[in-house]
Amino acid sequence: MNKKILRKKVSEPTQKPLLMDLSLNNLFAVKNDKNGVRKVALVTGGGTGIGKMIAFALASNGARVYIASRKLKVVQDAAEEINAASQTKASGGQVVALQADVTDKAKVDALAAQIQAREPKLHILINNAGISWGADLLEFDEKNGWDKLLAVNVKAPFYLSTALLALLEKDATNTDPGRIINISSIASYIPNSADPGGKGTYSYNVSKAGLNHLTRILAATLAEKFVTVNAIAPGFFPSRMTQHGLEALGEAVAIGQPTGRIGTTEDMAGMALFFCSRASAHVTGQVVVVDGGQSLVHFPSSQAARL
Ligand SMILES: NC(=O)c1ccc[n+]([C@@H]2O[C@H](COP(=O)([O-])OP(=O)(O)OC[C@H]3O[C@@H](n4cnc5c(N)ncnc54)[C@H](OP(=O)(O)O)[C@@H]3O)[C@@H](O)[C@H]2O)c1
Repeated sequence: MNKKILRKKVSEPTQKPLLMDLSLNNLFAVKNDKNGVRKVALVTGGGTGIGKMIAFALASNGARVYIASRKLKVVQDAAEEINAASQTKASGGQVVALQADVTDKAKVDALAAQIQAREPKLHILINNAGISWGADLLEFDEKNGWDKLLAVNVKAPFYLSTALLALLEKDATNTDPGRIINISSIASYIPNSADPGGKGTYSYNVSKAGLNHLTRILAATLAEKFVTVNAIAPGFFPSRMTQHGLEALGEAVAIGQPTGRIGTTEDMAGMALFFCSRASAHVTGQVVVVDGGQSLVHFPSSQAARL
């Protein structure tokens, strides 16, 4: 018998089925933990694109959300915008801007220290900050194309998760676990990363495949600490990263999707709320694709590889 399971903390006793509150308000809640303490989240790169969508979703449902990236003005503006939104006001949620760079371990530790100085407990960590690089196969830059990209896309989620582990596992139970959600990509499944012009996102696709496996490794490692680790693999969503592609390809992007459209804030919010709430407390180590079916059908590799 597994001794680790034996020495685990005991969770709440299971309620009789018909006494459970299975309303959406309870099952997908992210406002308070089991102790009635307001839930706290950190979203790296939360000032733009997908991170901002997730920060908005969590704040709209009452969480206190720290958003952190290099450009302080960008996160401050995003925090102001979300805090002014009526849903956030009504929920009592709040977004707080932090300046941070996750390029190396020392800087990741500095971000973790900012959270530790403000909060005794962290419920949700969203490793969302990411960068891309596209270049010809024979001219692929080592420093920016590989070293920096892998540092931001893979190393940072690892070190931020470990630096904040004590706060994530504090007071966690097996029905109200700490949550780590890594933002991967459908590019993690795409072997052909070059566009017709020859430019390839070789390291980006590799980094996201690595992040998927890091998700599984951390999930297996942290399950006994009552911390779940999952990943969302988006298809095409509007963001700073995809702005150029969206402008260059125009309507062709939406037409090329099986659903006839690209992802929206609601699409990302729904999956993020699932992974942060009671509804997913028994789900860990999973990578869920949110791409409207794009990765299931034929599409030009140049579009999908960059996502
Ligand atoms: N949009 C899509 O279609 C799509 C599809 C699949 C996966 N993704 C993934 O989604 C995540 C978010 O990307 P996005 O599309 O929303 O693009 P985005 O708008 O460019 O967001 C990336 C964020 O990461 C932050 N960031 C970059 N380097 C950082 C660093 N060294 N330290 C701290 N923050 C840093 C950026 O802020 P600063 O510049 O201020 O630091 C920015 O807010 C990424 O991991 C990306 O790979 C996006």
